[in-house]
Amino acid sequence: MTPEQKIILSGNRPTGRLHLGNYTGALENWVALQKDYRCFFMVADWHVLTTDYEHTPAIAENTREMVLDWISAGIDPEKSVVFVQSHIKEHAELYLLLAMLISTARLERNPTLKEQVRDLDMDQGEGITYGHLGYPVLQAADILIYRAHVVPVGEDQLPHIEITRELARKFNRLYRDVFPVPDGKLTKFARFPGLDGKRMSKSLGNTIELADSPEDIQQKLKTAFTDPERKRRSDPGRPEVCLIYTYWQKFAPERSAEIYEGCTSAKLGCVDCKRMVGEAIAAYLAPLREKRRALEEKPGAVEAVIREGDERARHAAVETMRAVREAMNIG
Ligand code: TRP
Repeated sequence: MTPEQKIILSGNRPTGRLHLGNYTGALENWVALQKDYRCFFMVADWHVLTTDYEHTPAIAENTREMVLDWISAGIDPEKSVVFVQSHIKEHAELYLLLAMLISTARLERNPTLKEQVRDLDMDQGEGITYGHLGYPVLQAADILIYRAHVVPVGEDQLPHIEITRELARKFNRLYRDVFPVPDGKLTKFARFPGLDGKRMSKSLGNTIELADSPEDIQQKLKTAFTDPERKRRSDPGRPEVCLIYTYWQKFAPERSAEIYEGCTSAKLGCVDCKRMVGEAIAAYLAPLREKRRALEEKPGAVEAVIREGDERARHAAVETMRAVREAMNIG
């Protein structure tokens, strides 16, 4: 099979505007993959409910914001299928059928789930929901219903890809060979530092968003951590431990040698360095902001992208479900 015939599916939970960590960790990679694969990019709105079922009103707005960021960053809706999970009801049917093929013990061993339970303090009170335990089964349905070959994801998602592979094999063995066994594909810039040096993450409040204005970016950078051992302006700095230097390497690599020199010789101070990197990031993001603005100004543009994507996704999903029902002799 040539790469052009290979199918990619990936998705994100809609949690609002995307930040530089999302961009370098996943989105940039998706944009590149469009060239060589047939891509499906999904807004995983049902997956939000596995933890956040009490706050449904935000999901619609977050979906719109995320799709705006995707397109601004270079996802081409003419080429790739951009769609919303909850609009394709066939996912729910496949999820139900796959749920019959996996034990609760297997799902309880899922390390991603264990981590979430720890982070979100969910071992208190009533504990996790039935739907949350089934998170990877729904994810498997998302992937298998498009008969995807490759799933680009972050490292934390690999256990879910493993479960998907097990389900595909089990289905194929029990009934008929319907599903390719998909491979996970790790993104390379997996850990991008936030303003406090920890992994950039919305929940930590340490992000620069793709849609931030140049002024927002400057404001945020003022609070950013630098080399803690560079106490005075005249002290030489250590770029290799400074997150600002990571930003230089990513957003203006052609200037990183000059910055390295300036920092280690103490000719360049942190205040100036931050201001300059802020300008470099703003310049890098300028075309994205422009594209976003143009889309935002066109009434119904995002909705039209989703409507068309849904239609193409539905076509594929309906086809697969026909094969699934036939293989199982049911429905
Ligand atoms: N679980 C993924 C995440 O949190 C989102 C997701 C849902 C997904 N369904 C998917 C990713 C299918 C890849 C394939 O990032």
